[in-house]
Amino acid sequence: MAQTRRHFLQQVGITGGAGVLYSTMSALGLNGIAGAAGLADTPAYAAPARIDLHGRPRKHVVILGAGISGLTSAYELLKAGYQVTLLEARKRPGGRNWTVRGGTSETDLTGTTQRARFSPGQYMNAGPGRIPQHHVTLDYCRELGVAIEPFVNQNADAYLYREGTTALSNKPIRHRTAKADIYGYVSELLAKATDQGALDSYLTVNDKQALIGFLTSFGSISDKAGGFKYTGADGRRGYTVEPGAGTEAGTTVAPYGLSEVFASGVGNYFSFEFGWDQAMMMFQPVGGMDRIPYAFERAIGREKIQYGAEVLGLKNTSAGVQVTYTTGGRPKVLSADFAICALPPHIAAKIPSNLPVPVVDALKYARPTNAGKIGIEYGRRWWEEDLRIYGGITNSSLDTGNTWYPSTGFHGQRGTVIGYYNTGTNANTYGALPPAARLQRAVAQGTKMHGAVYGRDIEASFSVNWAGTRYSEGSWVGWPSQTEGTYQRLLEPTGNVYFAGDHLSHAIAWQHGAMTSARATVTALHHRVVTHS
Ligand code: ALA
Repeated sequence: MAQTRRHFLQQVGITGGAGVLYSTMSALGLNGIAGAAGLADTPAYAAPARIDLHGRPRKHVVILGAGISGLTSAYELLKAGYQVTLLEARKRPGGRNWTVRGGTSETDLTGTTQRARFSPGQYMNAGPGRIPQHHVTLDYCRELGVAIEPFVNQNADAYLYREGTTALSNKPIRHRTAKADIYGYVSELLAKATDQGALDSYLTVNDKQALIGFLTSFGSISDKAGGFKYTGADGRRGYTVEPGAGTEAGTTVAPYGLSEVFASGVGNYFSFEFGWDQAMMMFQPVGGMDRIPYAFERAIGREKIQYGAEVLGLKNTSAGVQVTYTTGGRPKVLSADFAICALPPHIAAKIPSNLPVPVVDALKYARPTNAGKIGIEYGRRWWEEDLRIYGGITNSSLDTGNTWYPSTGFHGQRGTVIGYYNTGTNANTYGALPPAARLQRAVAQGTKMHGAVYGRDIEASFSVNWAGTRYSEGSWVGWPSQTEGTYQRLLEPTGNVYFAGDHLSHAIAWQHGAMTSARATVTALHHRVVTHS
């Protein structure tokens, strides 16, 4: 029977994964405009072809850690015909991809136990919470049938809050207001400088005209006759009385003063939304980020994952690898042909092994950092009802860092706000407090930005301090250098031991980094098996 082209693509999509589908489409010239207009081509991933074993036993790979890189490694190896065993210390898949719901219980490294009392349907993503549209994470969501919905990473009506002594300080300023004033003043200044000849050594007459044309719309400034003045009268910065029915044209107020606007630092967060990984559109799985690891678990097969398995030792042997671990206090030994160590590097460094000193030193070269989050469930969506904020982020100079309004459940009965998402010292400050005190402090800070409503209708809360979280001991890592040579030791296998994880990528702290690292590791391992057998 003649195959349709569509049928053919479906088949390669199913057996070879999204990457093969993509490269096949490239070969057929079907993906026309990818790469146009400044968007990089999605890197094609040629998943390993299924091994032809000629009757020999399948190669067995033991994977340490069922976080995103371990799961991706297992999933891709299985597609290529390997036998895999995943050892995971936690009782769940996902590692830092962790969704906290009602009933979730966690004991931190200080022995403090929190039990989440969120209502049915309410949750917080304690780790990853957003996915940019160019990340392979979305390819896996498509392939594994994980439904996604928009994650609101910017909202013109969310706030900026800066402590200080200017007219804009110590009060919530809507993003749109701050942007209108900053873009307006920058445009006014640049248009004046351009017109007065200050940039004549850089700009032709045509350039000057074009630049002033751009600034006129970008900053909403008047024409030359009006002195290129920014007045804020066009309404983009907001109204005190909104335009309405009949003769109601709306009332605007004059912008904040130029010096105060710049001195306040209120514009210093705008660049966040320009970031390669932070620009809209962004997405989240419907129902919680852990839909991804659970979908991997289903695809891999629950029986291939040993939960509650703490690794005690890792050895390269002449025949392969030997891993010792405990489950329920009972030591066990597992031999396999290869290991992929998909644990955080600073955790892997502590495992007794016969890895050479330079490799252990490379693992220790990673510098773990901290991040913290609190989820606060409210019985009323006051941010929508009272403040008309539908999703998005309020960024502040307070120690809470960022406040996330939920991107789902709009107009529902209740909702869960991320009351703080902070990093570094601020995360440590909150992490050092017991959970009730973290909530108290977060509410005091949130009240400064939102008013007393922030402390009302609180139904439940749960906080995470990644540095104090067993098996993670940090949110992600940084490297003093990724070019000087030490990091590179982990990109190569050591005997039969391979490494994978977001830390071995240039997309650290993203699932994309974990997935692309896992793919690179699986590809290298597979290449070795194919060329040596
Ligand atoms: N990828 C992490 C975030 O988006 C760091 O916040």
